[in-house]
Amino acid sequence: MADAIIIDGKSIAEGYLAKIKQEVEGLPTPPCLAMVLVGENPASLLYVRYKQKHAESLGITSLLYMLPAEASEAELLHLVNDLNQNPQIDGVLVQLPLPEHIDEFKVISAIRPDKDVDGFTTENIGLLALKKDCLVPCTPLGCIKLLKSVEKDISGLNAVVVGRSNIVGRPLAQMLLNENCTVTVTHSHTKDLPDICVKADILAVAVGNPGMVKGNWIKPGAIVLDVGISYMPDKSIRGDVDFAEALKVAKAITPVPKGVGPMTKAMLMHNTVKAYKKRRGWHDAQPD
Ligand code: GUN
Repeated sequence: MADAIIIDGKSIAEGYLAKIKQEVEGLPTPPCLAMVLVGENPASLLYVRYKQKHAESLGITSLLYMLPAEASEAELLHLVNDLNQNPQIDGVLVQLPLPEHIDEFKVISAIRPDKDVDGFTTENIGLLALKKDCLVPCTPLGCIKLLKSVEKDISGLNAVVVGRSNIVGRPLAQMLLNENCTVTVTHSHTKDLPDICVKADILAVAVGNPGMVKGNWIKPGAIVLDVGISYMPDKSIRGDVDFAEALKVAKAITPVPKGVGPMTKAMLMHNTVKAYKKRRGWHDAQPD
């Protein structure tokens, strides 16, 4: 069998970013994304800096609010409330993880659902579960776009999601269900995981365990989405799937890096523009 198609997330993301830039140019005012970082986790700081760079390259204003690691939950809630009420701000993102003394759920719940560009609030998660239009989490949305770049109609396919995080696994399973896939969600307690994975037409892995999914876990001709990102001691970046093995079996696979990662950032920009338009009552001609 020929090697799998390598899904070029970087160039697909660039295509979306170019379209978003054009759309932003046509808006009467620039959309504004406010990000909040608590503490100095170097990885989180790097992520928000990337998000700022992306936003600015598209003409989206980005504001970064940095609170010290010792900031109280009340201070953070106060800031979120200010951002919610500020009419200049279209999107509010609180970078996770938060320090342990802060209740993450309480903070996310404080974000106005119509500014929740991460799609993490109970309201948006609920709307997603009801298959209603809403702001949806960026990584799973990027995954669906990448899937559709190789297979327009995924209706009826067996999709297996490995991992059940609030950020990726759960919402991705919901979105695949909304696309009429038959969805199985697996996790650390799942028995006979390889036997379940090998039945998947679509295999999406988001666990953060480098190289966990071997070639013989993959159904010949499957589409594989590798959402894992692990930083190895030799400074290389690896996904959750054994890429060399998967390449010999799958029909298509996202690489790590340059697969799902660039799409996550592009979808955040998509959500920021969507939030801008929705809050002004401009109904999107096209859904996500
Ligand atoms: N930390 C890791 N991923 C994310 C994300 O998608 N959004 C936020 N807010 N924090 C994160």
